[in-house]
Amino acid sequence: MTTMPAPLIEMLNALADPAMLLDDRGRVAATNAAAKDRFGAWVEGQSYISVLRQPGLLAPVENAFFSQQSGTARFIHVDGAVETAFEVGITPLASLLRNGRSPVMLIFRDVSEQGEGAAMRRDFVANVSHELKTPLTAMIGYVETLQGPAQKDEEAQRRFLAHLGQELSRMNRLVVDLLSLSRLEGQSRRKPRDRVDLVALLSEVVGLLAFTASDQQVELVLDTPERADVFGDADQLTQVVANLVENAIKYGRQPGTVRVDLDYVQREPVLRGPAWRMSVIDDGPGIAAEHLPRLTERFYRVDTGRSRQQGGTGLGLAIVKHIVNRHRGRLKIESKPGEGTRIGVTLPAATEPTLS
Ligand SMILES: Nc1ncnc2c1ncn2[C@@H]1O[C@H](COP(=O)(O)OP(=O)(O)OP(=O)(O)O)[C@@H](O)[C@H]1O
Ligand SMILES: [Mg+2]
Repeated sequence: MTTMPAPLIEMLNALADPAMLLDDRGRVAATNAAAKDRFGAWVEGQSYISVLRQPGLLAPVENAFFSQQSGTARFIHVDGAVETAFEVGITPLASLLRNGRSPVMLIFRDVSEQGEGAAMRRDFVANVSHELKTPLTAMIGYVETLQGPAQKDEEAQRRFLAHLGQELSRMNRLVVDLLSLSRLEGQSRRKPRDRVDLVALLSEVVGLLAFTASDQQVELVLDTPERADVFGDADQLTQVVANLVENAIKYGRQPGTVRVDLDYVQREPVLRGPAWRMSVIDDGPGIAAEHLPRLTERFYRVDTGRSRQQGGTGLGLAIVKHIVNRHRGRLKIESKPGEGTRIGVTLPAATEPTLS
């Protein structure tokens, strides 16, 4: 690998976007911090063909090498379940031309928020407005009743105030969930780096939900090894598990059993490495196959009436999916109508397991 002039390396490091320098033999001679963060440090010294691997990008890079033509290309980078679309600026460094080839600078601009993102946001605003309108309309009705027909009826007043309180707390939950989604969107490209023990986390969540479960006559069973470390954000992972266990209690069988398992996977094929798989399993009515692919959409519910009545916002699984993606993990929803549902979250393991 050719050593690049120091000023070039300094410039590379000054760039906020991921950038790499290819030497005149087509090897990745240097990457900046943003590129190491996105693509991994392993790319240095590799041939650009094995790093970039997408034909749309290879042709313009070759033009830059051999013909000193600059250009741009699209590049899709996949990390776990997160796909990022980049527009890559390809610039030959013609002043360093040697034997008919020049080094090439690649700068990756993240364009995944553009294009279809805009249409999705419009839909989202329409949905949010609708979700807010429903409780608001109900609340206006209750207030009118309190001011009119129920004015002299204490029993009716108590009832309508209780309804009012329910609608308000639902709106509050909705806003809290929306805020957490928007925060997550801002973080999606930053991997969490704290070491988190999933065993402690699962025990805590199961402990917190023990009362809700027994209230619904649901038995909560936790089965874990002694320790299971991942790199993660403990609050967000708690949110994931709480949501899945709450769903299993709410939509499962009552009385019934909810199991929370944690298993080690030697080599997770998609994550290409060792992983921990948390599974939340219920023995409830399950979910019909046609709904499965849509469950993680915002506001999607199988039975809108039932979910609303139970105070659900329909954002729970959307939040779960965002958090799992941010952790470069996988979310798998399996269900057999009449038998139950199993939701698995697989996260890259931070260490070898301690087997109990
Ligand atoms: N274990 C399950 N068994 C059957 N149906 C489920 C299960 N988990 C989720 N669902 C269905 O998926 C829908 C979406 O779940 P999600 O957690 O996103 O929303 P929610 O529970 O309605 O609201 P929130 O989580 O915000 O309180 C639910 O409304 C329910 O219809
Ligand atoms: Mg939920």
